[in-house]
Amino acid sequence: MRIDIITVLPELLKSPFEASILKRAIEANLVEVHFHNLRDYTSDKHKSVDDTQFGGGAGMVMMVEPIDKCISALKEKRQYDEVIYMTPDGETLKQGIANQLSLKENIIILCGHYKGVDQRVRDHFITREISIGDYVLSGGELGAAVLCDAIIRLIPGVLGNETSALTDSFQDNLLAPPIYTKPREYKGWQVPELLFSGNFPKIEKWREEQAYQRTKERRPDLLED
Ligand code: ADE
Repeated sequence: MRIDIITVLPELLKSPFEASILKRAIEANLVEVHFHNLRDYTSDKHKSVDDTQFGGGAGMVMMVEPIDKCISALKEKRQYDEVIYMTPDGETLKQGIANQLSLKENIIILCGHYKGVDQRVRDHFITREISIGDYVLSGGELGAAVLCDAIIRLIPGVLGNETSALTDSFQDNLLAPPIYTKPREYKGWQVPELLFSGNFPKIEKWREEQAYQRTKERRPDLLED
C-alpha cells in the first residue's frame, strides 16, 4: 500500500511514522508513506497556499491551484483508489472505514488548514471526506496521522500476531473484554480463576460475555448498529 499525504506542515506529521508499529511497517515495505509540502506547488514568491474568502468572512481558504498541481502530479504517476480530505464535517472515522481503506492500493490524504479548502477542490478531486471526531483541530495533520495508524496496523503482516487486530475493540461492533498478565496476584488483587483453567472454549465464552457486558454498559449505541 502507498499513502501520499499533502500538507502545509510535513514536519508535524512525520514523527508518528518514525516509531513503533508504523516505523516497522514502513521498514518492512508493507506500506510506503510520502509527504508532499503544498508550498512546493505554489507559483508566487511568497509560496502562498491560501487567500481570503469571496463574499467576506473571517479566516483564510486554501486555494485550488496548488492542490490541483500536487494531486495532478501524483495522478500522472499512478492510479489512486481514494483521495481523502480530512475535515471536521466529513464522515466520522470508524473501524469499518479503516478496514475498507486498509485494502486499497494507493490513497492520497489531503490535510485541510485555516477555514478549509476551496469547495471546488472537494467537488473535483475528493472522493471521501473523513473526520476523526466531533471537535475542531487546527489542521488535518493529526487526523491524518490517526487515520494512517488505524489503517496501517490492519495491513496483513504489520502486527506480529495476525489475530490481534481481529480481537481489537470495535471489530464486530464490540468493545474488547478485560485482559490480564503476570503477576497472578498483586496487592491481593486477583486475576479471574477461569483464566488459569485451561478450558479454552469456556474462556472464549467468558470473553465474549464480558465484551458484550462492557459494550452494553459503555457503548449501547454499538449494539444497535
Ligand atoms: N481538521 C480539523 N478538525 C478535524 C477533525 N475533527 N477531523 C479531521 N480533520 C480535521
